[in-house]
This record gives sequence, structure tokens and C-alpha cells, in this order.
Amino acid sequence: MNREADFLVIGSGVAGLSYALKVAEFGRVTLVTKGTLDESNTTYAQGGISAVTYDPDSFEKHVQDTLTCGAGMCNEEAVRMVVREAPAQIRQLVQWGAEFDLNSQGAYDLHREGGHSEHRILHHKDSTGAEVQRALIQQARAHRNIEILEHHFAIDLVTQHHLGKMVRRYTPDTACYGAYVLDLQTQQVGTFLARITVLATGGTGNVYHTTTNPPVATGDGTAMVYRAKGVVENMAYVQFHPTALYNAGDRPSFLITEALRGFGALLRTKDGREFMHKYDERGALAPRDIVARAIDNEMKMRGDDFVYLDVTHKPADEIRQHFPNICKKCLSIGIDVAKDYIPVAPAAHYICGGVRVNLDGLSSIKNLYAVGETACTGLHGANRLASNSLIEAVVYADRAAKRSLQDVGSAALQQGIPDWDYEGTSHPEEMVLIAQSYKEVQQIMSYYVGIVRSNIRLERAFARLGILYKETEQLYRVSTLTQQLCELRNLIQLGYLIIKEAYAMRESRGLHYSIDYPPKKAEREA
Ligand code: FAD
Ligand code: SIN
Repeated sequence: MNREADFLVIGSGVAGLSYALKVAEFGRVTLVTKGTLDESNTTYAQGGISAVTYDPDSFEKHVQDTLTCGAGMCNEEAVRMVVREAPAQIRQLVQWGAEFDLNSQGAYDLHREGGHSEHRILHHKDSTGAEVQRALIQQARAHRNIEILEHHFAIDLVTQHHLGKMVRRYTPDTACYGAYVLDLQTQQVGTFLARITVLATGGTGNVYHTTTNPPVATGDGTAMVYRAKGVVENMAYVQFHPTALYNAGDRPSFLITEALRGFGALLRTKDGREFMHKYDERGALAPRDIVARAIDNEMKMRGDDFVYLDVTHKPADEIRQHFPNICKKCLSIGIDVAKDYIPVAPAAHYICGGVRVNLDGLSSIKNLYAVGETACTGLHGANRLASNSLIEAVVYADRAAKRSLQDVGSAALQQGIPDWDYEGTSHPEEMVLIAQSYKEVQQIMSYYVGIVRSNIRLERAFARLGILYKETEQLYRVSTLTQQLCELRNLIQLGYLIIKEAYAMRESRGLHYSIDYPPKKAEREA
């Protein structure tokens, strides 16, 4: 069924929901999400949300920690803006009903994570994202101006291209009029027109075989913008979380929050030796790219599938009080965190790159905003500081809402957009082809474009992915659309963008590490 709204929001994580709540007072919002409302990276976020609250912390310290972690690639203006506006957005989340833990004096109980010089992470036990998501869902469901459509998959943006004007490359006139959306229950594609369209489609973890991201994280928004000839950047910077629980067969991989290392957990090889001090004087609390590479190196040198995280020296009651969710999960597979070491290995976790946006979340395409993980705001540069992404999402949702409320009056609903063309397509007979190609993409990316890269590995990945690209485009042209086929196509395009940008780099920087361009000693120690 076709639809019209003032605002079309694609995605129901922290970014999409908080944007929707901010604009809903002023116009009709249609919010589509491809799974249930709560299936998002946000729901899985553990450690917390960073913001400066009390002395001795300061905006300047948070800014400097973010810039240092970003390895010279942050947009300082964006960093200063997010840090400054973070406390107000925390208050907004609290007003919406999100609860953050307090200490015995009634002040926020602040955690510390890798790369932070102060305790500044607000949290709700070890399931902060689920708490934020719960509060936002409750507000959004209650809002009469927000129409929520679960199990609706956005396939592509509607642009001039669909008015018969072939768009071969980006021009400043490129505009977005909404999106084509597949109703996963009826399998019909609707034309969803809007004055303002907002991409809040989240991460891309599933481009890799092992990831902390749920299956919905297939980078659809970024792929859509790339196909619409919008600007996408910084895709080479993929963050691997150092400590995902090693439990073969778990998808997504269960995260063991960095806050556990902030709490004092140590990393040990299988024979019990602490190893992080060989790599960095900050030990287990070095920025996560350094920790992930160190673990990767130890595993490769020793031929092991995991290392251990050890928190057994801390009081059992404190561990259980701060990390109940982790204790419960570990216990379910026979590990008592207070007594046993936890097997962990790195997993794809976050992408710093995405749809390029300005300080108001506006993309290079008119009337199209991108917020949250799908956006590249310049906050993270070449490496994201832990717990800086939930806050980025709410700050940018607020900025995008304010800016789009200024613009919505002058953005008309576009007439003359054709319905989706089903001609010449039929249901793919062999779904196994799609499933197998999906796995192949993940294997190619994991083996050749992972934590440590080289030119030869990237060339090989590019060639292998090229074959999958041709096969999948051919299938796409003749098939009725399915979610799996669309996601496969998006993953291939993201893989291509990651490889292309990584290959063009003639240095190791932040999250991109190539053995062909080892960092100079001074950079390594920075
Ligand atoms: P998401 O929350 O991922 O939401 C994306 C939404 O878009 C989903 O609803 C999805 O279904 C929908 N969607 C996607 N494609 C389509 C489509 N084609 N059509 C329709 N709907 C679509 N960050 C922190 O700051 N602190 C943390 O402690 C933290 N811990 C984390 C722990 C884990 C395990 C993970 C995976 C991430 C963590 N992060 C953390 C990162 C952070 O959770 C995410 O960056 C952030 O939640 C992204 O929010 P978002 O709204 O942009 O996207
Ligand atoms: C974690 O809790 O370790 C994840 C924090 C983040 O990804 O920002």
C-alpha cells in the first residue's frame, strides 16, 4: 500500500525513535522498521552512554579523548558540538523515561571504558541500550502522530531517477522524495512519499562472519544512499570489539562489555599469562583497536581461537551487581564469572563511516537526513571512542529534527512517482543461492578485510566480491524481491565500499591497519 507523510523515518533504534518523537508534535510521521520495533543495535548496547556530568571531568577532556581516539580524522567542530550538547540530550532521555544507575549518594554511577581519561559513562546495569530502547518505544507507541510499521523493509530511496531522469552521478540537485518499501507480510512494494526522509538504519556488522550486531544490521541505509549517488565516506574504519564471548554458533556474538575491563578485568592467554602490557602501557584499557589487534596477534601466534578475560580477583557481589546480564549469559554456558575466566575473541562491532552528513544530520541529498550509526558525522574519525555512539545518535537526532522542521514547509510531496515495477520478475527458485552468497561475503570480508589487512588480501577480496556482485545483480533483475536478496545486495555493496577505501589508503590509521604500511613508532605510541 502506498503512503504519504511529512516525515518518513526508516529504522527504530535510538536514532530513528528519538528523531520521530522530536518531530511528531509538528507533523505526521511514518516510521518503518524491518523487524520488530525493538530489534536494533541499540537494544544490545551494554556499556553505556558517555556525557560529562561532574568534576573532575570536563568538556575539554571528553573532546580530547575523542580526538585522540579518532587518530586525526575527526571533525573537531562535530566533536565539540556533540560533547557540549550531550548533557541536555541525557536529560531528554531521562524525561522520556530512561533510567540510569545512581550511586549511594544519588549521583550518576559512572563507568570508565578504554580511551576515556575519566569515569563518564552513564549506564543501566550492563543493558543500557535495552533500557533506552524500552523508554523510547513506550513514548513512540503512545504518540498519536507516529504511525509505526513493523516488518517493512526499505529497499531504495525515491529520487529524480524514478521520474525518468537518469542520475548517473551526484549533483547538488539530487533530492529524495521518500522510499520504496517492501511489506514483508504481503510481499508488496509500496511507494512511501514524504517531505523529509530520515535514514536511521544502523550498522553493518553482518558484512562480517563474527559480529556483535543482530541480523538486521546489514547497512541498508548506506547502500541505498550509494545507489542514489549520495556521498558515503570513511568506510574503511570498521571497529572490532576486542571481547565478544567465544561460544561457537552464537549469532550475534554476545558482547562482554568494555566496562568490565574498566572495572578491572585483565586479558590473559590460554595459559593464564597477562599480555596487554606487552602492547600498550594502558594495558587492557588501551583503545579498543589496539586491544583487538593485540588479541588477534596472540591468537594467531599461538593458534588459539580465543583469549581469556579474567575478573575473578574482584568481589563477586560487585560483579553481579554491575554486570547481571553478563553473569547470567555466562552462567547459561557453565561459566561463573566470579570464579572462571571468560573466553573472548574480537568481533565486528561498529562502522565509523557511512552517509556523509553536516552538523544538522543533512546528507548530500536534498531532504534526506541520516542519523545514528548509518551516518558519518565526523565525530569518530578513524576510530570511535567507546560509548560515544548512543550519545551521537540522540544529539544528531535532535539537530536533524530542528533543521528539518525549518525545511519541511518548503519541501513538497513529489507527484508522478511510478509504482514499483514487478514486470519480468519471479520468485527466486533457489533461495540456497542467496544464503550461500551471503555466507561467502562474510567469509571474504572476515578473512581478507578484517582487523589486519594487506594490499594482496584486499585485491583478492575485491576479485571474489566482484563475482558475487555480478551474480547477485543478475538475480536481482529477474527476481521478486525478498528481504534476503535485498540484504545480500546491500552487503556486497558495503563490502565493495570498505575494500575500495581501504585499498586507496597508503597508511595505517585508526581502525585501518595494513601490514604494507606499518604505523611509524611515534604514531603507534600516540
Ligand atoms: P540501530 O539501533 O541499529 O537501529 C537501526 C534500525 O533500522 C533497526 O530498527 C533496523 O531494523 C532498522 N532497519 C535497518 N535497515 C532497514 C531497512 N532497510 N528498512 C527498514 N528498517 C531498517 N554504543 C554506545 O554508545 N554504548 C554502548 O554501550 C554500546 N554497546 C554496544 C553493544 C553492542 C552489542 C552493539 C551491537 C553495539 C553497541 N553500541 C554501543 C553501538 C550502538 O548500540 C549503536 O551504534 C547504536 O545503537 C545505533 O543506533 P541506530 O539507531 O543508529 O541504529
Ligand atoms: C561496550 O559495552 O563495550 C560497548 C561500548 C561501545 O561499543 O560503545
